Amino acid sequence: MVDSEPSIEQIQRLSYVDLLAFMGESNLPPGGFSNIANLIDFCHIHESSRVLHVGSSAGFLSREIARITGAHVVGVDINPNMVKSAQANAEREGLASLCSYACSDICAYRSDEPFDVVLTGGSLAFVRDHASAIRSMVANAKPYGFVALCELFYRESPSPALRERVASIIGNQVPEYRQDYWTDLAESCKELCPWKRDIRPVRKATDDELKAYCAQMAEWASGNWSDEAKAALAARILEYMEPFNENMGYLSAITLAYRHIPTSHEPLLYI
Ligand SMILES: C[S@@+](CC[C@H](N)C(=O)[O-])C[C@H]1O[C@@H](n2cnc3c(N)ncnc32)[C@H](O)[C@@H]1O
Repeated sequence: MVDSEPSIEQIQRLSYVDLLAFMGESNLPPGGFSNIANLIDFCHIHESSRVLHVGSSAGFLSREIARITGAHVVGVDINPNMVKSAQANAEREGLASLCSYACSDICAYRSDEPFDVVLTGGSLAFVRDHASAIRSMVANAKPYGFVALCELFYRESPSPALRERVASIIGNQVPEYRQDYWTDLAESCKELCPWKRDIRPVRKATDDELKAYCAQMAEWASGNWSDEAKAALAARILEYMEPFNENMGYLSAITLAYRHIPTSHEPLLYI
């Protein structure tokens, strides 16, 4: 991916964010590929659907949805570099006629035409104002359309030492979201009627799997670097990944799909 080789010292000093940008990681939704299948299934996405992908990052989820279903997907992300990268990825993969990207804070985003489906693949946790983001997701969904989110939550608490290690890498203390946090957030919107849900533990990788992944990632991201530089990069990735992987053992992924029932609909009691 990158031709000019940095010094070993530069590699050893790479911050977490620089490393992520450099690796250009796809960033799958929590729950991985099978959760993309859930989102498509739960939200009945098909060729004529218009889908809004919230916090679209490098666009992996939008491209998968477009590739599998033929739906038109618009991604919004607050980070202009992510928007550029998502657009470039869609062009490279021949999906630009189905996927387009806009730079916006989801809380302020309003499309001229509402969408059949508004979904996020794990980005809500990264948005500052969760309540405003979910209200905006609902406002951008057609009446009787679908709103879906998938997020990680803690099944049990990690040790304070592990939380501290993760926080020091990210540069922020990550709140200990529980399952109820995400359901309460969505269900605080009265127009959202529960439709389908899935909860699955996230499997922590074994030490061998993790080491192999870091070596493969370094190989993939570094192009024609020397073996020494590749090994230094693999070691740097592993330094960051070890606490994240440890933390994964405490997490589960929740996927929630809702119908957007307009307030003008007749009163419903047994939903
Ligand atoms: C870590 S990525 C998660 C991508 C996710 N796994 C997926 O499959 O779609 C989170 C993204 O949310 C974006 N983001 C954070 N706050 C946002 C906001 N207020 N509005 C739109 N995007 C936002 C970030 O820039 C980042 O690209």
